[in-house]
Amino acid sequence: ANRSYLIGGNWKCNTTTSSALSLVSTLNSSGPIPTNCTVVVGVPYPYLSLVRSSLRSDIELAAQDCAHSSKMGAFTGEVNVEQLKDVGCTWVILGHSERRTGFGGDAGETSDLIAGKTLTAVGAGLKVMLCVGETLEERESGKTLAVVKSQLDPVVKVLKASDWGSVAIAYEPVWAIGTGKTATPEMAQETHAEIRSYISTVLGSAVAAKIQIQYGGSMKAANCKALLAQPDIDGGLIGGASLKPEFADVFRGMM
Ligand code: G3H
Repeated sequence: ANRSYLIGGNWKCNTTTSSALSLVSTLNSSGPIPTNCTVVVGVPYPYLSLVRSSLRSDIELAAQDCAHSSKMGAFTGEVNVEQLKDVGCTWVILGHSERRTGFGGDAGETSDLIAGKTLTAVGAGLKVMLCVGETLEERESGKTLAVVKSQLDPVVKVLKASDWGSVAIAYEPVWAIGTGKTATPEMAQETHAEIRSYISTVLGSAVAAKIQIQYGGSMKAANCKALLAQPDIDGGLIGGASLKPEFADVFRGMM
């Protein structure tokens, strides 16, 4: 593919001051970033400033969510896009399956809410890793593409075609997240190609040819090469392995 790679690390709800600094130190000494790669780390809100001030400048910073509104005001508990930019974020991860599902008692985020957040983030000049993906039950009943389309459709409705230059799609089959079960490279490629073809249908071939589609779900140093060799896999969104020194092996392997 003519696209460059986007390697995201998603720390999720992990790290303390000391473990965040230790991950930063490992990244800072991990050698050059290949020129065909953008590397981004998704850090919990409390450590964004600390990580930005201590991390090498050629690794970008992402938040793992943002408020639907870009306004300051009476929105207790929310963190908005202006605040994220203020602490040095250039990216935000949106629509992660863990946020879509909700956490004990929390209803979870709808695709419409995620579309609104995507519009807000792009409007503020942030880039977005927009996560989509099906559950095992949905895959087994042949609904993978329908599910992914239903997650992308609301975003297609609200963004202008030109906004898609600020969006990467992270395809993360839910059954592969944190389970050690990775989609095979062929299986992931098939869905990535379907997603690109859907983007081509709704947004045109130029947007489809340009958009980076990352794979997420138990990606690590040992399996990334075969996944990233697929023509429609343009990077990864890496959870567990991004908390280990092997995260650097993923982008170093792209040299
Ligand atoms: O955002 C990252 C994904 O949820 C993948 O997580 O690499 O721990 O499976 P994982």
